[in-house]
Amino acid sequence: MRELLMIVLRREGHQVLLAENGQAAVAQLEREPIDVLISDIKMPGMSGVDVLREAKRIDPDIVGIMVTAYASTESAVEALRLGAYDYLTKPFDVEELKAKVRNALERRTLHQENVLLKRALRSSSAFSNIIGRSKPMQDVFDLVETVAPTNSTILVTGESGTGKELVARAVHTNSLRRDQAFVALNCGALPETLLESELFGHMRGAFTGAAVTKKGLLEAAERGTVFLDEISEMSPMMQVKLLRVLQERKFRRVGGNEEIEADIRIIAATNRDLTRAVADGTFREDLFYRINVIPIHLPPLRERREDITPLAEHFVAKYREQMGKSVTGLSPEALRWLEAGDWPGNVRQLENVIERAMALERSPLIQLSSLPAEPHPRPNNGGEHGEAADTPRELPENGLDLPRHLETQERDFVAQALKQTGGRHDKAAKLLAISPRQLRYLLDKYALR
Ligand SMILES: Nc1ncnc2c1ncn2[C@@H]1O[C@H](COP(=O)(O)OP(=O)(O)OP(=O)(O)O)[C@@H](O)[C@H]1O
Ligand SMILES: [Mg+2]
Repeated sequence: MRELLMIVLRREGHQVLLAENGQAAVAQLEREPIDVLISDIKMPGMSGVDVLREAKRIDPDIVGIMVTAYASTESAVEALRLGAYDYLTKPFDVEELKAKVRNALERRTLHQENVLLKRALRSSSAFSNIIGRSKPMQDVFDLVETVAPTNSTILVTGESGTGKELVARAVHTNSLRRDQAFVALNCGALPETLLESELFGHMRGAFTGAAVTKKGLLEAAERGTVFLDEISEMSPMMQVKLLRVLQERKFRRVGGNEEIEADIRIIAATNRDLTRAVADGTFREDLFYRINVIPIHLPPLRERREDITPLAEHFVAKYREQMGKSVTGLSPEALRWLEAGDWPGNVRQLENVIERAMALERSPLIQLSSLPAEPHPRPNNGGEHGEAADTPRELPENGLDLPRHLETQERDFVAQALKQTGGRHDKAAKLLAISPRQLRYLLDKYALR
């Protein structure tokens, strides 16, 4: 019977290994990878059901076809229950055997493809929007994957525009909290009292204007993740309150007495050197240690230049889709220029440069002439300068990216204010009707220091 099966299956193009009993089969299975196991159920010594059980232990995905003399006997049922794929009843037809083996192999291939697909899907949903082939970024991805499932507080550091928020989101989407909220709050953008009520919520009548009781972000993020951006900009009073949340996992709404439990994970980010802020006395040491449980540092783009080309290509693809342009890539000169840059504004600056080039470019590849004079001089002076950034007054037919557009204007005005005041921060802040703290935040954000 064994010999017959071997001849038939070899003729079908399969590689066939024979084992004369259960033990011999298990020994073979342990020695080499096998796709399909065909075994009789009733055998002296080790039964076919036992062989299948052992085979599944060695390779859970192995496909088993059991051979039995009695239709619908208990053993056949038992084999199916154990995960046999199919069974043949003796005496069987050769064609039936061939068909069942073909199906079994197909199923095995499908299953393997499925596993690969799932893995690809997983990595794409988790990290696909973060580009980084350099060693430091690969290390960051590894670290994110390791620490994401824990509940530990994380501090993401790095210069402005290095991707801190992107990484914070990746931690959240790789964590067990991924189905709950990810709430981001910029500590530098709000005055102290507003920040407090944003974070903790407030009771009706807690202060003028508090007409209704409002939940804060900590409550909105219950069982999720809170991202505290620009943590260094927190006032001393807020630092104390945050410390308490981290220590006791409890807080009170502004004007409230009730203690509210906070099941949240906190991820903080800063582009400042917090140890220096601690030394200066502007940041509480105890809070620093509570936050800096797991530090993730993002190196500036100039320290991982091999990421520049893939990033640039990523942004070309992104804006090609958004703008409906037919620009497909970058000319070699443009790439060389991009790679030589120091990029003080890091990935954000690179993205802005590519976005603008995409808007200006008329040829299929981005040319040097579509790149700005900054962040470093262009090698040749040929071609149009392109410095006239496109700041349309009317909404273009294909729309625009409003936040980005506003950022461009914001950066422009801040830069002008600095120019007009000869770099005097206090005066520039007045000119823009913002607090010095807000100005500092903007200077960092747009790398204008
Ligand atoms: N590795 C990366 N791959 C793809 N896009 C990136 C990457 N790093 C940053 N970006 C993009 O650059 C921009 C800035 O990133 P992000 O907002 O995360 O920076 P940040 O470190 O938080 O900056 P800031 O300190 O100014 O807030 C975003 O548009 C982001 O999508
Ligand atoms: Mg940020």
